[in-house]
Amino acid sequence: MVKKSLIAAAAISMSAAMLTACGSDSNASDDDTITMGFSQVGAESGWRTANTASIQASAKEAGIDLKFADAQQKQENQIKAIRSYIQQKVDVIAFSPVVESGWDTVLQEAKRAGIPVILTDRAVDSDDTSLYETFLGSDFVLEGEKAGEWLVANAADADVDGDGTIKVVQLEGTTGAAPAIDRADGFATAIAADPSIEVTASQTGDFTRDGGKQVMESFLNSVQGIDVVFAHNDDMGLGAIEAIEAAGLVPGKDIKIITIDAVKDGMQALVDGKINFIVECNPLLGPQLMELAKKVLAGEEVPKRVVTDETTFTQEEAAAVLADRQY
Ligand code: AHR
Repeated sequence: MVKKSLIAAAAISMSAAMLTACGSDSNASDDDTITMGFSQVGAESGWRTANTASIQASAKEAGIDLKFADAQQKQENQIKAIRSYIQQKVDVIAFSPVVESGWDTVLQEAKRAGIPVILTDRAVDSDDTSLYETFLGSDFVLEGEKAGEWLVANAADADVDGDGTIKVVQLEGTTGAAPAIDRADGFATAIAADPSIEVTASQTGDFTRDGGKQVMESFLNSVQGIDVVFAHNDDMGLGAIEAIEAAGLVPGKDIKIITIDAVKDGMQALVDGKINFIVECNPLLGPQLMELAKKVLAGEEVPKRVVTDETTFTQEEAAAVLADRQY
C-alpha cells in the first residue's frame, strides 16, 4: 500500500472510533504489502465478535495490512467506510453487508476505481454480479431448513401442551439482512412438511441478546400456548431464555428452543438443556478471506461463491465438543 493513502485518509470525515487501522505494523508502508479495507456489520453478537477476531488475526498472519471499520449495524456507516477505502486506494475491499439491498452505487464506485470487492458472511441482492469478485459465507437458507427439519422430526416432543398444534414464535435477525430473510425462508419451507406446525408470531430482535429478550417478553404476553422459539441466532435465543425464566417457565422443557450459530454460550445452554437444537454458522472466515484476497490480487480465478462447511448439534453432540470449541 502506498504512503499517499494516509494523506487521503486524513481528508475523510469519519470518526477515529469508527475507522481504525490494525494489522501488520512493520510493513504497513511497504509498497508491496496488500492493504485490505474491511467494513464489519458491528458487534451485535458472540458470532460477530468471533468473526472480527478471526479476520484480524488472519490478516496479521497473512501479512495483510487491515483497515477495519465497525459500522454499528448501520448501512450508511458501511457506505462511508467503503468510500473512505476507495479514497485511500486500498488494494482490496471486503465487507459483510448489514442489509441485502442498496449497494449498487458504492460498489460501482469501487469498480470504477479498479478496487476488487469480496463479500464475506452476507450477500447483496444486486443483479450485477460483476460488482464483486466472490462471496464467502454460509448458506443461510440451508441453515433455516436444518432448523425446520429438526422440528418436523421432533414434532411429537415439541407439542408441549399436547393440543395438536405446534405454535412457533420466531425471533428474526436484522430486518433486510440476508441471514434473517434466508433463515426464515428455509425454515418455512421445511416446516411446510407438517401442517401441525405454524409460525404464530415473528418479529425482529436485531440479532442481539437484549432484542431477543424484549421480543420474547412481548410474545409471552400476547401469544397463548407457545410451544417453540425459533431464534435466528444464539444471542436472541439466550435473551429469550432470560424472558422465559423470568415468566416462571422452564426453557427447553415448557418451551422448546432452536437457534443458529453454535457459539460457546449457546452450546453451553444446549448442554444445560435450555436450548434443544443448534444449527452451526461458522464465523471463522478470516483464513479463507485472506487467501481469496491474495488470489484475486494475483489475477488468479476464484469461485464466485465459496460456501462455509457447517453442521448441527443436539445436546449430546454439543457436550462432546464444548470443551474444544474455539468461539
Ligand atoms: O450474518 C451472520 C449472523 O450475523 C449470525 O448468525 C449472527 O449471530 C450475526 O449477528
